[in-house]
Amino acid sequence: MYLFIGQILAYLVGSIPFGYLTAKLWANIDIREHGSQNIGATNVGRVLGFPFFILVFLLDFAKGAVPVAIAYWVRSRFGAETPELIYLPPLVGLATILGHIFPIYLGLRGGKGVATSIGVILVLAPIPAIIGLAMWVILVLATGMVSVGSVGFALAFALAYLLLGNPFSIDQAAMTLFVLIVTVLVLVRHRQNLKRVLAGTEPRIGLPWFRS
Ligand code: G3P
Repeated sequence: MYLFIGQILAYLVGSIPFGYLTAKLWANIDIREHGSQNIGATNVGRVLGFPFFILVFLLDFAKGAVPVAIAYWVRSRFGAETPELIYLPPLVGLATILGHIFPIYLGLRGGKGVATSIGVILVLAPIPAIIGLAMWVILVLATGMVSVGSVGFALAFALAYLLLGNPFSIDQAAMTLFVLIVTVLVLVRHRQNLKRVLAGTEPRIGLPWFRS
């Protein structure tokens, strides 16, 4: 029961489309009709400018990180009398990511889940998350393509988790399942980007070394 309520609340929080709301409130545009048509930080930054990438990234990050941090607190506070709460953090994390990708407020058509996943996994599995983030930075700087960084992030995070495990986790099986589901979700959501990368048509961000 507690798990179910936690997941519903997390899904509703994850569904808040900060990128869509930011573009609507700041520029009165529907971000789904501009750029890559994605509601994520990359596309909002592409259309409205770099500060909006930072703003939307932080908001989407927070809606992943904060519910999981609360889930850990609930587990430590009430876990002794309610053993099922051992699974609360990964289930809450998954629900926020699913909320971002399939938001109830936008007809289930949302983003690609990267910023929210980073927020979730930095709390759930910090060391693999930092390895994934390092891969994201390296690939974005090397290619200028955020999508390449995002795919590399998901793969590096999953590999690091499977190799290193998570010393802070007492619910390894649920966590491993969570890691695999999130990785598949991020990869599937980037399939159009990957097709464009292979076709050589994926846009690059404006890094100085890619300007001709
Ligand atoms: O996190 C989304 C990013 O990897 C790609 O965004 O707008 O270029 O499809 P976009």
